[in-house]
Amino acid sequence: MVGNRFADNHLPIMSQNSAPIGVFDSGVGGLTVLRELYRQLPYESVIYFGDTARLPYGTRSQAQILQFVREILNWMVQQGAKMVIMACNTSSALALEVVRSEFNIPILGLILPGARAAVQQGQRIGVIATPATAASNAYRQAILEVAPSARVWQVGCPEFVPLIEQNRLDDPYTVSVAQEYLEPLLQRQIDTLIYGCTHYPYLAPILQRILPQSVKRIDPAIHVVAAAAQELDLLGLKNLRPPVPTRFCVSGNPQPFIQLAAQWLGYAPIVETITLPALVPQPAQLEAVE
Ligand code: DGL
Repeated sequence: MVGNRFADNHLPIMSQNSAPIGVFDSGVGGLTVLRELYRQLPYESVIYFGDTARLPYGTRSQAQILQFVREILNWMVQQGAKMVIMACNTSSALALEVVRSEFNIPILGLILPGARAAVQQGQRIGVIATPATAASNAYRQAILEVAPSARVWQVGCPEFVPLIEQNRLDDPYTVSVAQEYLEPLLQRQIDTLIYGCTHYPYLAPILQRILPQSVKRIDPAIHVVAAAAQELDLLGLKNLRPPVPTRFCVSGNPQPFIQLAAQWLGYAPIVETITLPALVPQPAQLEAVE
């Protein structure tokens, strides 16, 4: 347990309710979760962090992801977040189980909500994800826990996140890359496809053209926000006052983020660049990932 090393949240009950939900990703992918928050929980205030200086996460080691996630969660707690949604599958797959007990606020990830939603739709499930998420087998394990007879195929898609962050959605090259990644899943005749990375819903128009119409597409963002709503209810933590505008922070140059966010949110946000307070990895934490 490293919980006591991190700032404790001693806010009184009322300010706990109006405290923001922390949402983070490596970049703009988490905006697909933010959009769902606006839709399903419009009364909640949000603080969004995009770790753009260290993007992409999907080719990082588990030790690196754990370090980044601990730094972000520590900062979110310092900002007074009442709950954190990991709007990043890579972090959810590689770090959630380890860090959940280290912090005194609820932390939600995408894998279980996405897996549960998928097994309600089909039995032959394809997962497209970052290489780290695919290699972790997190989706396969979560799906088989809920539906042991399901079949699962996972494809690591290293080129998708850089292409999306470079706003190359209309580039024919992106279409050819998508065809290549989906080919093995088409051969397996999947009936359901999970967007196993929060960046991928931006590719929906391309993926839709490649997949047969009968294939159900699962966006775990919808389901993690539904889980967050339930959890807030259960804990009596729903916001009862008007929300404040979303605070956006990134670790790198804010300009590319502002441009993409304007495209996908419909307004150009004010974005701060911040430096996360560094955390020195503890020996116990290093052992845990060896
Ligand atoms: N959007 C994130 C995910 O869901 C991270 C992608 C990346 O930075 O590689 O996995």
